[in-house]
Amino acid sequence: MAEVFATVKDLKAWRRKQDGLRVGIVPTMGALHAGHGTLIEAIRPKVDRVVMTLFVNPKQFGPSEDFDRYPRAFESDVKLAESKGVDTIFAPSLEEIYPEGFSTRVEEQDRSKPLCGIFRPVFFGGITTVVLKLFHLVEPHLAAFGKKDAQQYYVIQKMIEDLHMSVELLPVETVREADGLAMSSRNAYLSAEERERAPRVYRELNHALDRMRAGMGVERALSEAKMELDRHGFKTQYFDLRTVPDLSEARSLEHSRHYLLAVAAYLGATRLIDNLEFEF
Ligand code: PAF
Repeated sequence: MAEVFATVKDLKAWRRKQDGLRVGIVPTMGALHAGHGTLIEAIRPKVDRVVMTLFVNPKQFGPSEDFDRYPRAFESDVKLAESKGVDTIFAPSLEEIYPEGFSTRVEEQDRSKPLCGIFRPVFFGGITTVVLKLFHLVEPHLAAFGKKDAQQYYVIQKMIEDLHMSVELLPVETVREADGLAMSSRNAYLSAEERERAPRVYRELNHALDRMRAGMGVERALSEAKMELDRHGFKTQYFDLRTVPDLSEARSLEHSRHYLLAVAAYLGATRLIDNLEFEF
């Protein structure tokens, strides 16, 4: 059985007793799926204690975004976490994390600007604020993050570097459904008909990559992929190529460099993101 804490005081008291042990953290917003399962599986053998945090963080949602309807599934989250070997769950209330008068915000100002940063201006500042807070509370040696949220991963990596933090990051590959759709808690919003169409996002990523590798110019491959998604009823926010890890714009491919090909598109009311990372 995992221990479940809801208060900072209880979590800190627990943390003081783990002296000498290696602690890992898996930060989540709950509504766990198999992708979260792989985060736990990846970190479990590398640490003595695994802490999973379940907290839907209001600071990373814009005023017209889906904070209120974001799926919440505490009971089944606890079961999944326990079945994968989580030792400790931290599931605080809103007031516990952001008590009345809370007035601090932590912002990475470079990698957080392109891609999702253009369309969700408060998103990454909200993430770095809560993740830094969770890191301070749990004092982890290792932190697992999924590469489906690749930009989040590189923003947190930069925050860690900039603030000389000693936590190490454990990147975990995206987990996909059999038809290629990247797993996400937001997939629960898709209607049956949208669910059928959603794997096109991953197909267009692969298609664009194949075309670039075959010599098509980057601009053209990106704009054709975007047009193709839009032609199939998606509203594409971006289809972009960036260098890794700095997320600078890339408009040609150079040998031995690492790239992130990333997309965000609405299908009905559901915002889907996905990406491919590759070396040229
Ligand atoms: O990736 C997520 O689920 C969230 O952005 C995180 C890292 C838990 C912060 O709220």
